[in-house]
Amino acid sequence: MSDYKHDVVFDHEYDGIQEFDNKLPNWWLFILYATIIFSVAYWLLLHTYGLGELQIEKYDSEMAAAQELMLAQASAGGITDESLTLAASLPDKVAEGQALFNTYCVVCHSARGEGLVGPNLTDAYWVHGGKPTDIHRIITDGVPAKGMAAWGSQLGPTRVEKLSVYVVSIMNTNVSGKAPEGELVE
Ligand code: HEC
Repeated sequence: MSDYKHDVVFDHEYDGIQEFDNKLPNWWLFILYATIIFSVAYWLLLHTYGLGELQIEKYDSEMAAAQELMLAQASAGGITDESLTLAASLPDKVAEGQALFNTYCVVCHSARGEGLVGPNLTDAYWVHGGKPTDIHRIITDGVPAKGMAAWGSQLGPTRVEKLSVYVVSIMNTNVSGKAPEGELVE
């Protein structure tokens, strides 16, 4: 330590270039050790003990909040093709509708909507129109003469909307089941 001298040149020389044998500056070493301590602390707190949010979790929760906002904006003007289509792209919303579908609809439309007494809801053919709002209208008003109840009066608008979202999410998934009925909707 004591025989250390500042700005002493090494013996070697490459291509006419020489170098000093100086110590690294303290500010530089401080940053080096600080980053090492930070990385260990970060690893332990966030990964090992699960305190705080990881980047990917932050990303997911921000995306979820943004989707909620988009959905709120799309639904501001009431139930539209856009609001139902958007909700049908969100797994949470689809799951809510699926639970209701399993309770009220599978007896006639089967477990995956492929049809039994009622038509196949996964093909591209629709008796009463294939727009999301058409589906919402049929679930609300039903076709009593054909055995499809008017669910709007039985379940109320909130549950009918959730069911519509689920049906929109399975449209065109083409599960093989009951033969197509109605018109082809592109
Ligand atoms: C008792 C049997 C039965 C139940 C239960 C039932 N449906 Fe239906 N559904 C039908 C029948 C039959 C039709 C076809 C009506 C027609 O041909 O006009 C139909 C038609 C539909 C259609 C229109 C299909 C098209 O091609 O236009 C949708 C959407 C639908 N049902 C959704 C549902 C939902 C959602 C539920 C649960 C809340 C449900 N259904 C419960 C029998 C049923």
